[in-house]
Amino acid sequence: MTETIASLLQEGRIYNPPEELVENSNVKKFMDKHGIKTYEELLERAKDIEWFWNEMVKEVGIEWYKEPEKTLEWNPPYVKWFIGAEYNIVNDALDRQARLRKNKVAYIWEGEPGDIRKITYGELHREVNRFANALREFGVERGDRVTIWLPMIPELPIAMLACAKIGAIHSVVFSGFSEKALLDRILDAEAKILITADGFYRGGNVIELKNRADGVLNDAPSIEKVIVYERCNVPTNMKEGRDYWWQDVVRNQPKECETEVMDANDILFILYTSGTTGKPKGVIHAHGGYAVGVAATLKLIFDLKEDDIWWCSADIGWITGHSYIVYGPLILGTTSVMYEGSPTYPKPDRWWEMIEKYAVTVFYTAPTAIRMFMRLGEEWPQKHDLSTLRLLGTVGEPINPEAWIWYYKYIGNEKCQIMDTWWQTETGMQLMSPLPITPLKPGSATKPFPGVEADVYDPDGNSLSKKNAGGFLVLTKPWPAMLRGLWRAEERYINTYWSTYKDIYFTGDAARIDEDGYFWIQGRLDDVLNVSGHRIGNSEVESALVSHPAVSEAAVVGKPHEIKGESIVAFVVLRSGISPDGKLMDSLKEHVAKEIGKIARPDEIYFVSDLPKTRSGKIMRRVCRSVMLGKDPGDISTLANPEAVEVVKEAAKFGGVTSK
Ligand code: WT7
Repeated sequence: MTETIASLLQEGRIYNPPEELVENSNVKKFMDKHGIKTYEELLERAKDIEWFWNEMVKEVGIEWYKEPEKTLEWNPPYVKWFIGAEYNIVNDALDRQARLRKNKVAYIWEGEPGDIRKITYGELHREVNRFANALREFGVERGDRVTIWLPMIPELPIAMLACAKIGAIHSVVFSGFSEKALLDRILDAEAKILITADGFYRGGNVIELKNRADGVLNDAPSIEKVIVYERCNVPTNMKEGRDYWWQDVVRNQPKECETEVMDANDILFILYTSGTTGKPKGVIHAHGGYAVGVAATLKLIFDLKEDDIWWCSADIGWITGHSYIVYGPLILGTTSVMYEGSPTYPKPDRWWEMIEKYAVTVFYTAPTAIRMFMRLGEEWPQKHDLSTLRLLGTVGEPINPEAWIWYYKYIGNEKCQIMDTWWQTETGMQLMSPLPITPLKPGSATKPFPGVEADVYDPDGNSLSKKNAGGFLVLTKPWPAMLRGLWRAEERYINTYWSTYKDIYFTGDAARIDEDGYFWIQGRLDDVLNVSGHRIGNSEVESALVSHPAVSEAAVVGKPHEIKGESIVAFVVLRSGISPDGKLMDSLKEHVAKEIGKIARPDEIYFVSDLPKTRSGKIMRRVCRSVMLGKDPGDISTLANPEAVEVVKEAAKFGGVTSK
């Protein structure tokens, strides 16, 4: 296997899309309709972004309650799309679907133990309505925040849609996060209601949620009610007058519920993501533009048609799930597969077995998962008939050509175009990706989606396009699913995205553009780690470490990791009088897992007596990272304590505990 992959890589060839895919593609149909002959011409025409996005509105069948008066209002850094439109995304994602596709399956859901639920659009509509009525009865109103801490069960999309239906703002917290992370997000959003479950199945175990949430709810005064879905029958404490079983609150609710008429620019949800400080950022998305953006990308990139079976393997707790398990597919009336548990439970072929069983046609996953499966061996996918697959996709981080080729060969049987989609929590929708008509280069997300304008800048704001020179990836025009701000953090919004270049969105990624105009994303520029395709702020992990009574200071850096992309390495200074040992090391790792979630658990901890700092006291992570990787630390003339470099060097060399 290794040999073939190596030779395929050496070729460096361009992978042209299969003719059949091109001919029958949604994008080709769109081009024909407008007399557009080539990919280049499509990109050129779409530079008239108002024209293009209005066409997309029609393409995905958006149904406004009241038509917009104007397409775009761009007062950087603030954007409004479809101004004056009365709208609710739930009308397109659900109400319209229940009329058109009442008996079509919306979700084929599989629990980890093997239980299966197939939910039609008619049933989904009814369940959302009943739950929305229950929320209204609990006093939830337009603009109220509802925090959702649910696993991958159908009640998660149901809860999100129910909130949106009545104009409430949902804030979903990934079920793999800790209760401490949950609390931070509840407090920041001042949520009135928490929706959770007793627990869920993962890797053959029950992971409890509600009992763990109880540990922090006393510190969350905004929470008036807690609604708990019973999934695993775990004994659960219920506080009288505050906690209610989901199954009880929906029981006598009517099957109809009026959808709240919103403004197209009203807030749909908040989703927290990591930044360069310890506090997560509450990214805000709005009903109208977001609906158009997610549905249009899914239709043109992943080419979804009426009879496709779509599976996006992400967790709904991340933006990928919000956009491409919940809102995008529902607006297109798609049948989606949804899975609760671990990809390798009970055996490493669980995913491939499900693709065969449900005849999945389009599959979207992350490079980290592909690398894991690559390591487990192709004999697992080879046990199954994956011939229904016609398109594949990836997201989360740059995909290394080796993993790309493996995916192409062993999952796609060398006949599926691979969509390497670049985007962010903030962008809401895929912004860069091949289309079914785009020739591929493994490792490149190819070109911006039509109507999206990206570039690579040098520090002074000069465009470096088409020179193969590395620079900062920027977006020079607004797009419909663009974030509308950060929840109650306007200054941070401006500083993070709009202060590097005037009126230009700063992505935080490094990239280069090659001679064919293809973009190559090189990773983050800021102090943010990418672990298994998810952003984790270095400082978030550091503040978790420092919150442990034994720790006085910490510096967290990323180290290249074969499967996870990056692994987390922490340099820790202990409080005086505390001596390092293996037990403490384990308890610090556990502490971080408890504070943030297992995904942030450091892989390695080095105890040091000092950390390199600037004269103003700022810890120099850059220096720690270089030293750890055995590289030259670079310019250390600004350090207040250059001798600390030696300390870090020695720790990294001998591992774990140093004598100094
Ligand atoms: C960051 C955004 C969008 C959902 C998943 C992550 C990196 C994402 C790619 C890709 C290279 C990628 C970037 C980006 N990234 N997709 N196809 N190629 N890098 O969302 O947590 O908001 O992270 O993920 O660095 O800025 P997120």
